[in-house]
Amino acid sequence: MLRTQATRQVLRNSRVTAKRSLTLASRVATASIRPTVAKTSMQAARPIISSRGIKHINFGGTTETVYERADWPREKLLEYFKNDTFALIGYGSQGYGQGLNLRDNGLNVVIGVRKNGASWKAAIEDGWVPGENLFTVEEAVKKGTYVMNLLSDAAQSETWASLKPLLTKGKTLYFSHGFSPVFKDLTHVEPPKDLDVILVAPKGSGRTVRSLFKEGRGINSSYAVWNDVSGKAHEKAQALAVAIGSGYVYQTTFEKEVNSDLYGERGCLMGGIHGMFLAQYDVLRENGHSPSEAFNETVEEATQSLYPLIGKYGMDYMYDACSTTARRGALDWYPIFKDALKPVFQDLYASVKNGSETKRSLEFNSQPDYREKLEGELETIRSMEIWKVGKEVRKLRPENN
Ligand SMILES: NC(=O)c1ccc[n+]([C@@H]2O[C@H](COP(=O)([O-])OP(=O)(O)OC[C@H]3O[C@@H](n4cnc5c(N)ncnc54)[C@H](OP(=O)(O)O)[C@@H]3O)[C@@H](O)[C@H]2O)c1
Repeated sequence: MLRTQATRQVLRNSRVTAKRSLTLASRVATASIRPTVAKTSMQAARPIISSRGIKHINFGGTTETVYERADWPREKLLEYFKNDTFALIGYGSQGYGQGLNLRDNGLNVVIGVRKNGASWKAAIEDGWVPGENLFTVEEAVKKGTYVMNLLSDAAQSETWASLKPLLTKGKTLYFSHGFSPVFKDLTHVEPPKDLDVILVAPKGSGRTVRSLFKEGRGINSSYAVWNDVSGKAHEKAQALAVAIGSGYVYQTTFEKEVNSDLYGERGCLMGGIHGMFLAQYDVLRENGHSPSEAFNETVEEATQSLYPLIGKYGMDYMYDACSTTARRGALDWYPIFKDALKPVFQDLYASVKNGSETKRSLEFNSQPDYREKLEGELETIRSMEIWKVGKEVRKLRPENN
C-alpha cells in the first residue's frame, strides 16, 4: 500500500524536483570516487579548506578532517612503502580483502596463519604460496615491518602472549578494530610503548573491501593512532588505509572506533532493527494479519522500497516520497519511538563502554564449541515464523521469477 503510493508520488513529482533529486543522487552515488559537492542541499558537506587530499568538512555544523586517496597515488604508495613488508596475520574476511588489495597494489605482503587450518587452505586458493609469502603466524611476524593483526578479536587475545615478544622495535603494529588494545584489561593486549600502533577500520566486510577495490571504487574507512613513536604514525595510517583500498578516510580514536562499532552493530545495524522487526510482526500476527501481510508491512517494504531511498537520498526524501497519510503517521510516531528506545540505547552504550560487551564476546567466542553454539542460535532465528515467511516472500519478487 505504502509502496504503491510512494511510487505514484515519486512519479507525480515535477520534472524539476526529479532532476534536482537525480542530480543529487548521482553525486551522492559517486561521492566515494569524486569529491564533487552539490550547491544546495549538500551545502553542509561542502569542503571549506582543501589542500592535497585532505578536507575539512562541515558535517551538519561540526567540522571534521577527512583524508582521501587522491593524496596517495599508487606510485607514491610504492615509493613510501618500498622497504616494507606487510605481515598480515589472520586470513578471515578482512585478511582476504586487505591482503589481496595490498598485493594487487604491488606491495610486499606475507600472510601468517595457522598451518593447515581453514585460512591456510583459503590463502593457497587465493594464490599465496607456502614458504614464499604464506607462513605461520610467528614466521610472518618476524618478517614484517608492519604487523597487521587481523586475527579474530578473541584470537588476538589468545595469541598475544606468544606474539608480543616478536614485536621488536622499528615494527609498526596495525589493527582493524580498537577492541584489543582499548579493552586491554580484559584482552591482555597491551601494545609495546616503543612501537607505532595504528588502526584502519574499513566500514564494511572484507568481501566488500575486495569487491569495491576490484570495481575501481573503494571503501570508506576510519583511522586512528594509539602510539606515535616515529612522529609519522598518522601518515603511515593514512597511506596504509589507501593501500588496502580505502576511498575516504575519517580520523577517529581507538576508543571511539570500538565504542561506536560495538554499539552500532548491537543497535540499529543488527540487534536493534531485528528486535523492532520482531515486535512489529508479532503485534500484526496477534491481531489476525496473515504471515505474508505481516512480513510485507514489516520487512519487505522496508528493505525493498523505503530503506534504499533513505540510503540514496536521505530520510527527508523518503518522507517526501510517501503518501500524506503515511507521512503524517510517521511524523507523529517517530518521537514516541525515539523516547521509548533512547533509554535502551543509553543502557547499551554504557554496557559497551564499561567492557561488559567485550567480556561477553571474549567469553563466548573463546569457547572451543563456539561455532556449534552460534549455529544453534542462528537456527533459532532461521526457524522463526517471520524469517521462514521471508524466504517465501523473496521467491515472489518479480525479478526472481
Ligand atoms: N569482518 C568485518 O566485517 C570487519 C570489519 C572491520 C573490522 N574487522 C576487524 O578485523 C579483524 C579481523 O576480522 P575478520 O572478520 O576478518 O576475521 P575473523 O573471521 O574474526 O578471524 C578469522 C581469522 O582468525 C584466525 N584465528 C581464529 N582463532 C585463532 C587462533 N586461536 N589462533 C590463530 N588464528 C586464529 C582464523 O584462522 P583459522 O582459519 O586457522 O581458524 C582466521 O584467519 C577483527 O579485529 C575485526 O574486528 C572486521
